This record gives sequence, structure tokens and C-alpha cells, in this order.
Amino acid sequence: MTPPTPATGPGDGGGATIVMTGGTSGFGTITARRLTHSGDTRLILGTRRAAPVGDPIPLDLTSLGSVRAFAASTLERLGGAQIDALVLNAGVILPDVTGRTADGFETTFAVNHLAHYLLLRLLSPALADHATVVLTSSGTHDPATGAGLATPRHADAELLAHPDRDPDLAQRPRTAGQHAYTASKLCAVLTARALSGHLDTGRRGLTVLAYDPGQVFGTGLANHLSPPLRTAWSLLGTPMLGRPLRRLNPVLNSRTAAGEALADLVLGRFATPPDGHSYAALRQGRLTWTAPSPLARSDELAGALWNDSARLVGFPTRD
Ligand SMILES: NC(=O)c1ccc[n+]([C@@H]2O[C@H](COP(=O)([O-])OP(=O)(O)OC[C@H]3O[C@@H](n4cnc5c(N)ncnc54)[C@H](OP(=O)(O)O)[C@@H]3O)[C@@H](O)[C@H]2O)c1
Repeated sequence: MTPPTPATGPGDGGGATIVMTGGTSGFGTITARRLTHSGDTRLILGTRRAAPVGDPIPLDLTSLGSVRAFAASTLERLGGAQIDALVLNAGVILPDVTGRTADGFETTFAVNHLAHYLLLRLLSPALADHATVVLTSSGTHDPATGAGLATPRHADAELLAHPDRDPDLAQRPRTAGQHAYTASKLCAVLTARALSGHLDTGRRGLTVLAYDPGQVFGTGLANHLSPPLRTAWSLLGTPMLGRPLRRLNPVLNSRTAAGEALADLVLGRFATPPDGHSYAALRQGRLTWTAPSPLARSDELAGALWNDSARLVGFPTRD
């Protein structure tokens, strides 16, 4: 098979500077290892704990103060060097929407979307021309893909940050928790869309991608869910059960495949996607370019989310 023409990105990663969240668990650890494989890539990892590879800087996405401190430390450590790729991969799913962050926002939305949005805004000026930004989304944002989770009803940042103000909030805590997760993943695609549409993005030649890794069992993502769900998640991630299941369902991917595909996106090791496509979905271990959900294709929603998120994190609506 002919190797794909690199679309963009730092190629073999040699000499590149990459900043990543979510590189300490699940498929993100595989991505982090792959990104540092060449030995001369500088990988700065935003972490809550020790990282097996890369250059760790403390980051707790449940606090916007921590995000600001992480961004400041990163810029200081870079000493003027530019960022070739920004990988926003960290995420959580919680059993309900009762959790609040230090800033008073619903935790899933705050970690998965708001904190990453702020980080993107803070680090954006340090992105090199032709840098790549990848936001990890999920097929669960799209009713057409599903995964048995409640799909997003909206991407209203105010209501997601304060679900108690949502008149249509699901009565069942578990459904409300699922909605918070899938809506936060819709926000990832909309953020990518909004950023892609900015004049400055085009002028700087940035590549902005949303990544759907498919369903990847055996990661830490189910850690906050009920014990039966946690056990099932972990068992389905074992090779004995995972392999045959992956043959039956194209949405299921191994941790290795999901982690390596994310690294490929970051390094530009993928064939140029069809015009206008920036949503990369991993199916049967292969990157495919497909349309995200109808809500995720709305420029109006993308613009509103961008501006409302800016207000929530205390940032100007445009750079
Ligand atoms: N697994 C799937 O089926 C699936 C499907 C679609 C999308 N995704 C998305 O893929 C990404 C990775 O998920 P995964 O399945 O690999 O899950 P995972 O093993 O739980 O990894 C999540 C990562 O996010 C980090 N993180 C979580 N909360 C954080 C916080 N408050 N501050 C800083 N870092 C935090 C974790 O750090 P710690 O190591 O400190 O916990 C970890 O590195 C997530 O965005 C997830 O939503 C996963």
C-alpha cells in the first residue's frame, strides 16, 4: 500500500514542540509515547500526576486557575519557542451533573470543554504558522453513531455550565450525566469549526481537527461510573473479548489503534482529507473523514458557543 501523503503537521515529530492534555491514561498514553518516539520531540504534558513520557506540567482541568497557571508555565518553559501541535485529549464522563468545579461550573462540561477552550485561547498566540490543533471529540455527539448514550439536545454553554437552569434537563441523573458528556463532545467539534473559520486561522495556515476515536474499551474513562459499568468497560477492553467484538462492530477500536491514530493526526501522517472535512473518525482502526452531526455543522451554533465560552472564562470573544 502506498503510504499516505502527509496532509500537514510536524511529520516524524522530529524537533517539534507539542502540548497535550490527557496523555497519562487510556489511549492518550499510547499517543504520548508515539509522539516522543523520535527522541527529539518536545512533548509538554498537562497532568495531575507523574507522566511516563514527556515534560509534565501540573494541570487540573477542574480549575480555570490551574489552566491559566499551566499555560503561563508552558509559555515560560518554551522561552519563546512556538508550539507545532496542541492536542486537547483529556476528558471525563460522570454519573450525573451534580459535580461543580472550583469555578462553579458543571464538571463534565467544564473539564471537557471550558477548560480546553481557555487553554486554546491562552496558547493560540504561541502556535507556529502551520501548526495543528486536535480536539478529541466522540461519535457519541452524533445521534447517527450513538453508543447507547443520551445524545446532545443543544450546545448552549450557559445551560451546560449550569444544568440546573436547563428547563429540559433530564430527570434521570444518569441520562443528564450522559447528555453533559455527549454535549461536551459536540462542543469539541463546534470549537474546531469556529476556530477553523477564523480569518487568523487561515492566515496562519493552522490545521484544526476534531477526532472521534470510536469506542475504546479498557481505558480509564469509566472510572467514575457504577461498579458494574466499570467492570464491563474493563472486561470489554481485554484482548479476549475486545478482539472478536471489534470484528463485529466497526466503531470499536483498540487502545493502540486509537492512540496511534491520534498521533498520526498530530504528526500529519494521514492522506489529505476531502475538501472541507476536519472530523476524523476512527472506524475499524482506520481514519475516515465523515460529516459530524447536523448540530455540529452549524456555524451559528459554533459562533455562539465560542462567544459564550469566552464570556464564561472571562476572555474577549475574539483574539
Ligand atoms: N474511550 C472511549 O471509548 C472514548 C470514546 C470517544 C471519546 N473518548 C475521549 O477520548 C479522550 C481520552 O479518553 P480515554 O478513554 O483514554 O479515558 P482515560 O483513560 O480516562 O483518559 C482521560 C485522560 O484525561 C485526563 N483528565 C481527566 N480529568 C482531568 C483533569 N481534571 N485534569 C487534567 N487531566 C484530566 C486523565 O488524567 P489522569 O491520568 O490524571 O486521570 C487522562 O489522562 C477523552 O476526551 C474521552 O472523552 C473516549
